[in-house]
Amino acid sequence: MLNRRSLLACTLVLPAVSAALFRPRPARAWNGEAAGPEMGAFIAALPKAELHVHLEGTLEAETKFALAKRNGVALPYADVEAMRKSYVFHDLPSFLAVYYEGKTVLIGEQDFYDLCYAYLSKAASQNVLYAEMFFDPQQHVDRGIPLATVIGGLTRAREDARRKLGIESQLIMSFMRDLGADSAMAVLDAALPFKRHLVGVGLDSDERDNPPNKFRAVLAKAKAEGLKVSVHCDIDQADTHEHIRQAIDDIGVDRIDHGGNVLERPELVALARSRDITFTVCPLYSGWLGRGSDKPINVLRGMLDNGLKATINSDDLAYMGSNYIQESIALAQPDSHLTRAELVSPSRNAFEAAWIGEPQRARYMERLDDFARRYLTA
Ligand code: ADE
Ligand code: ZN
Repeated sequence: MLNRRSLLACTLVLPAVSAALFRPRPARAWNGEAAGPEMGAFIAALPKAELHVHLEGTLEAETKFALAKRNGVALPYADVEAMRKSYVFHDLPSFLAVYYEGKTVLIGEQDFYDLCYAYLSKAASQNVLYAEMFFDPQQHVDRGIPLATVIGGLTRAREDARRKLGIESQLIMSFMRDLGADSAMAVLDAALPFKRHLVGVGLDSDERDNPPNKFRAVLAKAKAEGLKVSVHCDIDQADTHEHIRQAIDDIGVDRIDHGGNVLERPELVALARSRDITFTVCPLYSGWLGRGSDKPINVLRGMLDNGLKATINSDDLAYMGSNYIQESIALAQPDSHLTRAELVSPSRNAFEAAWIGEPQRARYMERLDDFARRYLTA
């Protein structure tokens, strides 16, 4: 089984080269609907919700360069192209080095605004009606950037995007599990005065020796404060099945980010179904189990066939070939053998699992039902 290091080696090197290259070939013959211009138009028009995107991971090379110039930050690249070429990773430390370098250009409130507004503009252009976006506060407060600056910029961008572009969104504050539980608790306490701007908390970063239960107290406190909880269970990690079990059983999460290894344990599939867990799958990162083996398992297909709820998302898209949600769905469609009717279900699952009020959900469902009536009965 792949560990995180080898997984990153095969998932993160290749997107910079070609997103298509690292997708295993679909294993079985399929007589379903082929990818093509009609399928492309269907996917473009599909009303979407994004539930798994890291704002720091949306920092496109052009924006990073522009912000570096604005803030007088020296980057070790001659131009955007050279920087983009540096988005080649061979293991976790080299991924993190490039990923975390991005934060150095994010300094003022306007920088966080620009980051968030750029993502929401692109998402709105792809018929994303609603987005829940992670941000990592510790990446910034640990550099002396006040939380008010980070949350202030992101919140102003969300409000402008709602007014000007019609896209609605909320923020999920994610704890970096490799910084430990005390650091997570400290940043939660610091964030409570801004609680009205947050909908939930997450748990991301390096999972090795960092099981969900290590963060039980901070996640329980966040819940007691009325925040929702979603936990990353990256695929093919050490102890991944136990991490998934803890997330569902001990923490009582509302959703799991990635979580594809659930498919390897029938008892976990049953547990996830009984608790109505939704999995936010990112096809370019967590779309396959056992990549490189002769029997890779397609996660979306497996979840669909096992009656699990899955959504399609874009994760750290700037580092994964700039594939936003529409491109992610288009790449997942042939890999997961999704018919047009089946492609509606990740959107439906996302609107159902979104942390929003019922009137807002009903509005989105109406849009989706209208779309399905128009496109599936034609
Ligand atoms: N940080 C940013 N993206 C992440 C992911 N997909 N898994 C874990 N940590 C992350
Ligand atoms: Zn993620």
